[in-house]
Amino acid sequence: MTKRAKITVIGAGNVGATCAHWAAAKELGDVVLVDIVEGLPQGKALDLRQASPIEGFDSDIIGTNTYEPTADSDVIIITSGLARKPGMSRDDLLAKNVQIVKEVTQQAVRHSPNAILIVVSNPLDAMVYTAWKVSGFPAHRVMGQAGVLDTARYRTFIAMELGCSVEDIQALLLGGHGDDMVPLPSYTSVSGIPVTSLIPRDRLDAIVERTRKGGGEIVNLLKTGSAYYAPAAASVQMAEAIIKDKRRILPVAAYCDKEYGIGGYFVGVPAMLGRNGVEKVLEVPLSDEERAAFNVSIGHVKELVAQAEKMLGQ
Ligand code: NAI
Ligand code: 2OP
Repeated sequence: MTKRAKITVIGAGNVGATCAHWAAAKELGDVVLVDIVEGLPQGKALDLRQASPIEGFDSDIIGTNTYEPTADSDVIIITSGLARKPGMSRDDLLAKNVQIVKEVTQQAVRHSPNAILIVVSNPLDAMVYTAWKVSGFPAHRVMGQAGVLDTARYRTFIAMELGCSVEDIQALLLGGHGDDMVPLPSYTSVSGIPVTSLIPRDRLDAIVERTRKGGGEIVNLLKTGSAYYAPAAASVQMAEAIIKDKRRILPVAAYCDKEYGIGGYFVGVPAMLGRNGVEKVLEVPLSDEERAAFNVSIGHVKELVAQAEKMLGQ
């Protein structure tokens, strides 16, 4: 008999609690929810567990303020940290979240030295880098969630435009998790039909722009925080690909050195996810215009990482 997978979710706020919800409801394994606030993870875990007889899932869910119960986790999803409020960019969260991600990563990996880390905290690309540096893990066992969410937003807007099922939209998006991310209409299709032959250029440009600003659109509506249903669903889709060794190809903030000539940073690229984490990064040809946009986004990621490195060194 194989044992159930164990998933730790650090941060029991909006994204973390919703990750626990999706992971338990999908019976991906047992879930440990961790937060610094006493009672919060315990209360949410107990509440979620009491939903299980109604919804019919058999995951054990516990909440804790310490890391002992997280021991030997297979996957650790890091969501702890400040979230954006109106007027803030993801980058404004850097100084505080570097310290939080550093601290939680140190604690978590001590108890689960073989886990795979999925980082969600913002600014995403610098936080994945921070978790990688602090953990000492090989790069294939550390990744960030951004592209699955950003691509889901892009796919949603295309389906809304065409009035068709979201399930029929396949798309790719590259770069960092900032407003300069690069949705790629040239790699977007609707049941195999190039999207460029279904949606006029000006409408497609507007969809690309709305996707880039998709996080901010939700922050401005909510006013008290940022998106969490779609970010959590995206993180759990990645965890599922790893736990079930599905070898799914998803847009992931993965470590790229020679790949795309990036030189040792985590940026959004198509990657195969399986039981070893990032099994491989897939390189796709880009037009000059796409490459230029990707370079702008990579430049921004490098700036953020340089700031994070400075803070880690302090
Ligand atoms: P939230 O404020 O609802 O939850 C954050 C939780 O982290 C709080 O419960 C807080 O107590 C906890 N926390 C803070 N310091 C901690 C520590 N040292 N140890 C354990 N827990 C700690 O925020 P939300 O909405 O859940 O967002 C979490 C993070 O995820 C933010 O940085 C946000 O910007 C980011 N995010 C990233 C997305 C992505 O696509 N990568 C999408 C959505 C959010
Ligand atoms: C989002 O894209 C704030 O990163 C978060 O919704």
